[in-house]
Amino acid sequence: MVPHQDDLIANFRQLASTSEPLSRCLKALETGVFTDPEGRTEPLNPRLAFGSAALLAHLSRICPGSLSIEVGFGAGSSATVIMSVRSLVASQFEHIIYEPLEPSHRVGGQLVQAYLENYFGSRFRLRRKLSQIGLAQLYDERGPETVGLAFIDGSHHYEYVMTDFLLADMLCCEGGFIVFDDAWAPAIETVLSYVEANRLNYSIMHLAVDNTSVLKKVGRDVRDSLAFKPFPVPARSDWTLLPEEQRRRRRLIESYGAAGDVTITGHITAVPEAPIEPAAPRGTAGSPLARQFLQREHCV
Ligand SMILES: C[S@@+](CC[C@H](N)C(=O)[O-])C[C@H]1O[C@@H](n2cnc3c(N)ncnc32)[C@H](O)[C@@H]1O
Repeated sequence: MVPHQDDLIANFRQLASTSEPLSRCLKALETGVFTDPEGRTEPLNPRLAFGSAALLAHLSRICPGSLSIEVGFGAGSSATVIMSVRSLVASQFEHIIYEPLEPSHRVGGQLVQAYLENYFGSRFRLRRKLSQIGLAQLYDERGPETVGLAFIDGSHHYEYVMTDFLLADMLCCEGGFIVFDDAWAPAIETVLSYVEANRLNYSIMHLAVDNTSVLKKVGRDVRDSLAFKPFPVPARSDWTLLPEEQRRRRRLIESYGAAGDVTITGHITAVPEAPIEPAAPRGTAGSPLARQFLQREHCV
């Protein structure tokens, strides 16, 4: 079960009292300023939501395997949380982060990066690459199902998030987690909506805490090769916030079952679904789209 956000935060605080990097990170999240052991400071910009940090700490504790990955270093708070907790629970762990920008071109995170390099040494692996390239290379390097936790917080454009999902899915092992930051953003919600309709080997906790959704891989993908289910797309543009009522409804997520599965507790669409035509029998020219295609190709 993913505990309630308040409990996640209480656990996060407790854990931070046992870890130097985590306590620095907690303080930075509270104050908006990161301070290194020499007393140098840097504004924490961008700043991860507190609930998201607490959720990442929880998942870093329970995720399977020794490899975790992350898309988008930003100011490094998510990397700090994941690595700090992984180092508490596993003697051997690796965390690989994909971030295309040079430190000097990022808004912040230069001091955090130097601190993590110094504290975690070679276990901190920041690869200066676009995730679409880096994750595909990682798949080549390490093979399928080698990752226990993937945190996606890079480009927020739909096709990039979908690509991050696709590659993270190929890398994620059974029992592993894929986490999306800013999951209320319509582009990201659309990816989740696709997964909910089409990828039944994932359990979804949409907006499990403020801002963040979690997928847990609970089995193999057994769809046949032409399978596709229509899925709802939110009728909101850009960064329009969810109406409060929908936010409240979406935070109803209940609990994992006895086997550790996440329960799906409600459809994640934000708008009434458009009526969906009954599917035409497979292999026929029954649907309007198929008819259009066949006419264009002069088949009928
Ligand atoms: C919101 S920030 C990440 C914040 C980070 N999780 C933290 O805790 O500070 C997004 C980052 O993603 C990076 N980014 C954008 N597109 C990317 C891509 N295609 N691959 C990897 N990183 C990307 C940006 O340069 C930026 O540093």
